[in-house]
Amino acid sequence: MLQCSVPNWHAKEAYKIEHGSRVMSQKWSPESWKTKPVCQLPNYPDKDALAATEKRLAEMPPLVFAGEARALRAQLADVAAGKAFLLQGGDCAESFAEFSADTIRDTFRVILQMSAALTYGAAMPIVKVGRIAGQFAKPRSADTETQDGVELPSYRGDIVNSIGFDEASRIPDPKRMEMAYNQSASALNLLRAFAGGGYADLHNVHRWNLGFVENSAEAERYRTMADRISEAINFMEACGITPETAPQLRQTEFFTSHEALLLPYEQALTRVDSTTGNWYATSAHMLWIGDRTRQPDGAHVEFLRGVGNPIGIKCGPTMEPDDLIKLMDTLNPEDDPGRLTLICRFGADDVSKHLPGLIRTVKREGRQVIWSCDPMHGNTVKTDTGFKTRPFERVLKEVENFFAVHRAEGTHPGGVHFEMTGQDVTECIGGAQAISADDLSSRYHTHCDPRLNASQALELAFLIAENIAKERDKSRAVA
Ligand code: PEP
Ligand code: CO
Repeated sequence: MLQCSVPNWHAKEAYKIEHGSRVMSQKWSPESWKTKPVCQLPNYPDKDALAATEKRLAEMPPLVFAGEARALRAQLADVAAGKAFLLQGGDCAESFAEFSADTIRDTFRVILQMSAALTYGAAMPIVKVGRIAGQFAKPRSADTETQDGVELPSYRGDIVNSIGFDEASRIPDPKRMEMAYNQSASALNLLRAFAGGGYADLHNVHRWNLGFVENSAEAERYRTMADRISEAINFMEACGITPETAPQLRQTEFFTSHEALLLPYEQALTRVDSTTGNWYATSAHMLWIGDRTRQPDGAHVEFLRGVGNPIGIKCGPTMEPDDLIKLMDTLNPEDDPGRLTLICRFGADDVSKHLPGLIRTVKREGRQVIWSCDPMHGNTVKTDTGFKTRPFERVLKEVENFFAVHRAEGTHPGGVHFEMTGQDVTECIGGAQAISADDLSSRYHTHCDPRLNASQALELAFLIAENIAKERDKSRAVA
């Protein structure tokens, strides 16, 4: 059972409320999370400024619509049923400094490339969800960070404080929530244009290759596949299946997601959907609960149980079957397929130790979930030179082990969850470009965890496509 080890003003408030009125109502409201113990929230020194920001945010338009969140939930129900595959990826932490149209476009096109490789290789619809347009808040393993004997509060993501290592930078500033909201709105606007305005047209499949990976083996493999896709499109068009009759050829659906960590921000953007009368978080289509904030009786679970969006739960090595049962009961009492995605992040060697037990628990309870693999967060290591990195072969290994466990258990490996970027970074070692520990310093730009670059992401997509094809061939052989 995870313990909340970071008491702060919210936790103290929760204590007061619980002890002030012993009989608590089970009724949910956008602020009922305040009655629960909470981890990982910043302690804003200026409470008036916080309240003023929350009020302004509550008056801003929603970033996404409830109907879109429901559409994603319906597509995820297909994933839960083994009829589709979830591809979720993007930055570990978005930043204010690196915000640009090019960065968004490049991340989007790597996701399109991965999706093309997956659709082609796996012959399955791919549900595309970015860690983008809102992925700003970061949980930290320690409250403070020490450099050269100086101890300061930890950086908690650009939505909370600044990464600079000085006292002023690390003070939580509520205004940053509004900056994050504005950046998310303009990122979403561009993403909607890319998805629907021609950029994602399958006729452009050749043009999604990024310049800096042009000469790699992955790019060559991608070009060969793109040739085949183009041939298939020509054939279909000759048969009368054109973008006019099949709009999927000319546009795609793309959804956004982030960790629902900063609850004052999430609360301010929670609205009642006029169609159904239900509450929805409107900061993103899908929200997930991090591995450090998934206490079944904690504030983050309380907040998410009341919104209708699809929800992810990060499952690390400390996830106990009993906790998982409580989480499924609380977050998905009706057992709706598409509501819950279990994002497993055990580490390459520990998948076979932890995953079978959780799968059997879900089976025994007769529940419907999506099993997704995050091969990033259990495989982080520190180099001698002090860089956080992830060996690419460990990332591949975790994905392969994840698929192998599902093959053995007879369940559907429904998706993957990556930290990746379209930029030419050197943050994860290995891969076809053979990035070494010495190369890391050359283009190490992440604000938090190391990300796969475009070439590594594509390499991974091809590997996953092969694994899904294996799974499909096996189930055909059985049928
Ligand atoms: C993350 O996804 O960036 C993250 C912090 O993950 P986890 O909660 O699984 O550690
Ligand atoms: Co991360």
